[in-house]
Formats: sequence, C-alpha cells, structure tokens
Amino acid sequence: MVKNKDVHGKNRSSKILSKASSFQVVEAYNTLRANLLFSLSTSQKKSVIFTSSEPGAGKSTTCSNLALAMSQTGARVIILDADMRKPVQHKIFRLNNVDGLSKLLSGLSPLEDCLLETRSPNLHIITAGPIPPNPSELLGSQRMGYLIEALSESYDYIFIDTPPINVVADALMFLDQTAGVLLIAKQKQTHYDELQRAAEKVHNLKGNVLGVIVSSVSVADKPYKSYSHYAYESSNE
Ligand SMILES: Nc1ncnc2c1ncn2[C@@H]1O[C@H](COP(=O)(O)OP(=O)(O)OP(=O)(O)O)[C@@H](O)[C@H]1O
Ligand SMILES: [Mg+2]
Repeated sequence: MVKNKDVHGKNRSSKILSKASSFQVVEAYNTLRANLLFSLSTSQKKSVIFTSSEPGAGKSTTCSNLALAMSQTGARVIILDADMRKPVQHKIFRLNNVDGLSKLLSGLSPLEDCLLETRSPNLHIITAGPIPPNPSELLGSQRMGYLIEALSESYDYIFIDTPPINVVADALMFLDQTAGVLLIAKQKQTHYDELQRAAEKVHNLKGNVLGVIVSSVSVADKPYKSYSHYAYESSNE
C-alpha cells in the first residue's frame, strides 16, 4: 500500500513542472524524455542514475521533472532519493521524510512504509529518510541491489537522485544494477574537464553514460541549441 504523506514543502517545489510552466520548458522535458527512451530502448534495465561532476548542477530538479514527464505518458515511475547527504526530493514534492531509503536499507523500515504517492498518479517516491552516517555503505549493500530488483517488478522506470560523483562515490556503488547515468551539467558552472572526469569514473566501472543534460540554459539566448547528441534542457528561470 502506497502512503500519501503530502504534508509540507516550501520553495523547492517552485521549479517543478506544472500547468504554469512555460511552453519551452515543457517542450525541453518532452524532448529529453524522448531521447532517454531511445537511450533505454536497448537496455534490459530501466533504472537511471542522475548525477553530476560538482554540486548544484541541477540533478534533483532534472530528476523530478523528467520523472513527472515520464509518468505523464502512463508509465509507472518511481524516484529513489539516494542523495542521503543533501536530500531534497521530499521538499520538491512536499512529502514527509520520516521513513525512506536510509531506514529501508538499514532494515529499520519496511518497503510499504517508504513508498509515497505524489500528485501524479503514476509517480511514486522513496525519499532519502534520516541522514545516516554511512551512505556509501548502505548504497553499496546487497539490500540496495534487492530493492532495485524488487522495484523493477512494479515500475517501468526507476529514477535515482544521487550526490555529485567527483565529490563522493555514492552513485557508483550500485552502477551495475542500472542502465547507466545521466550526467547533469550546468551552463556557466560545470567545467568540461570535470565533466569528463565524471564520465571516466563511470566508464572505468564499465557503466554507461546515457547522456549529458545541460541545465539552466537561457531560452532567450539559445532557444534550440543542443549541447550533445543526447538531449538538452532549457529554462529561462
Ligand atoms: N533547469 C534549471 N533552470 C534553472 N535553475 C535550475 C534548473 N535546475 C536546477 N536549478 C536550480 O539550481 C539549484 C540547484 O538545483 P538542484 O538542487 O536540482 O541541483 P543538484 O545538482 O541536485 O544539487 P546538489 O548537488 O546540492 O544535490 C536550485 O536552486 C535549482 O532551483
Ligand atoms: Mg540534489
């Protein structure tokens, strides 16, 4: 049974896709969704890691909006907030974070207490839970593998929000359980060398970089510019 604990939340939710979002932003996410579907079409696994080289690149925002866009096609989607150091998915979706991934992986909460509903009927979330002392260990544990396997039975896509990989290795701990990573880069912030270093970390572990998404692209400046052969995201905020 999925719980609905839509109880609080503040400014974090302001960048979430809604009826008020501009045409360009909605279109950017739709394009992104289409490109991701192409990237995943050859993979058996449907779980995707959202990460970046450095903090603040737009991982969490992109993860939640792309999950929403994907769920709007009728696909069953779940977001896993695996950023147990700076968790924000519960803030974005205005949910309670009493239970969640940290408690689930520690064996302190059962799965049914951690599955939360959102306003989108096909989109569920497991929030990060209380901040644990050992996030990397928990994410590298067998329980994480079992969880991804179990969720794959009930959901078409699993979107996993993680910390930046040039800072901590959390996102790499369960890389082999996933189709690969989407690297989020922020315009005028992310350095090419750092992005390349992040991609190398993934390749060194025989993981896939499914694509690079550039966030915070100014619509006014570059209305249709694509930064990679995978996808782009734009926003005029
Ligand atoms: N496409 C976008 N356009 C404009 N601003 C954005 C966009 N995506 C994210 N932001 C803003 O950038 C900031 C960082 O975003 P977010 O929290 O999604 O990044 P992050 O990579 O998850 O950060 P962290 O490394 O701290 O987890 C937030 O203030 C967010 O509102
Ligand atoms: Mg984040």
